[in-house]
This record gives sequence, structure tokens and C-alpha cells, in this order.
Amino acid sequence: MKILRAKAEHIIYSKAISLCIDESAKIRGTGIARRTPEYIATKIENGNAVIALEEDQFAGFCYIEVWGHGKYVAHSGLIVAPDFRGKGLARKIKKEVFELSLEKYPDAKVFGITTSMPVMKINYELGYQPVHFSELTDDPEFWKGCQTCKNYDILTRTERQMCLCTGMLYDPAKKKT
Ligand SMILES: CC(C)(COP(=O)(O)OP(=O)(O)OC[C@H]1O[C@@H](n2cnc3c(N)ncnc32)[C@H](O)[C@@H]1OP(=O)(O)O)[C@@H](O)C(=O)NCCC(=O)NCCS
Repeated sequence: MKILRAKAEHIIYSKAISLCIDESAKIRGTGIARRTPEYIATKIENGNAVIALEEDQFAGFCYIEVWGHGKYVAHSGLIVAPDFRGKGLARKIKKEVFELSLEKYPDAKVFGITTSMPVMKINYELGYQPVHFSELTDDPEFWKGCQTCKNYDILTRTERQMCLCTGMLYDPAKKKT
């Protein structure tokens, strides 16, 4: 298994990645945001993505998004293809994307919102803390991503204060030495 910082040569996998995200969202029944092949290709071109390959077959993917004019970054679209789940691959991909984002955006706070147990566990290991939504970016573009989630009515009703996801944040300024 190879875990790589994605480059132009990996754009050919964009369609397979997009399809896999769609299918997993349907099965899980939560609104994992839809990502078109074009959107994924842009992330790869900009050097903001990590891909896992097993003998040239796509096995996993994750990318970086930048919010609030670079004050925050989020790691989104984490996906492991069904055949490769339960073997620690998500943990390895998240670690690589975390290192890539600290190199590219060293001053940005890293955050995520998730209902996923594996993701909470991995984020905790990387040094994230659970936080209230008020500690996360107020960039409206980020929160627009929640519109495709079936729980969006809760987020609207609470005026974006809380929802079913847990907010998690890694603040480089508070890094333990
Ligand atoms: C979530 C996902 C990325 C996990 O990938 P994975 O490679 O199977 O995860 P890992 O093997 O690295 O597991 C990491 C930890 O989570 C745990 N875990 C994995 N799947 C789990 C599940 N369904 N329920 C509870 N815990 C789980 C593992 O036990 C492991 O912890 P441990 O090593 O302490 O036992 C994968 O299942 C997936 O692509 N799902 C669909 C898309 C999705 O939900 N993305 C997240 C959007 S927020």
C-alpha cells in the first residue's frame, strides 16, 4: 500500500473517488457532502490531497480545504474503499494529510465536524480537542456544505450553535511541547 501526496498523474482517479464518496454516503444515510470529479481534480492539482493506492487501484483519499482566508483548514472527504476498511488505512491517510497541512498552513487552526467514531478517535490521537461550534470557522461557505446533510434543519434551528456532529479542533498555538 502506498500513501502519497497526490499529483497530476493521480487525476485519473477523481471519478472513482467521487463515486465511492457518493455510495458510502447513501449507505451511511448521513449527508457526507457530494464531491464532483472536477472538484476532486482541483484539490489534486493544487497539491492539497492525499491518495492511497494498492497496485494502482484507488484505496483511499482525503483533502485539505482552506476557510476564513487561511485562518482555518479542514480535512474533508475522507474515504476508504470498502475492500480496504478496518485495517488502519484511514488513520494513515489522516496522519499524512495532517502533516501536509501543517507544512503548507503552519499557522492555521485545523478543525473538523463529524459523527463518525473512527474519525473522532483518529482526530483525538492527532491532538484535536472537542469544541463548541463557536470555536470553529464562521466562514459561511464552510457551513453551506452542511446543506446536503439530512440533519440540516437542526443546525438552522439552533442558529448554527450545535448539531449532531461533534466539532474538533487542533490549535497549533496550543501545541503540547
Ligand atoms: C470512516 C472510514 C474512513 C474509516 O476507514 P478505516 O480505514 O476502516 O479506518 P481505520 O481502520 O483507520 O480505523 C480507525 C479506528 O476507528 C475504528 N473504527 C473503524 N470503523 C469503525 C466503525 N464502523 N465503528 C466504530 N469504530 C470504527 C477502528 O477500530 C480504529 O480504531 P482502533 O485501531 O483503535 O481499533 C471508512 O469506513 C469510510 O470510508 N467510510 C465511509 C465514508 C465516511 O464515513 N467518511 C467519514 C466522513 S466524516
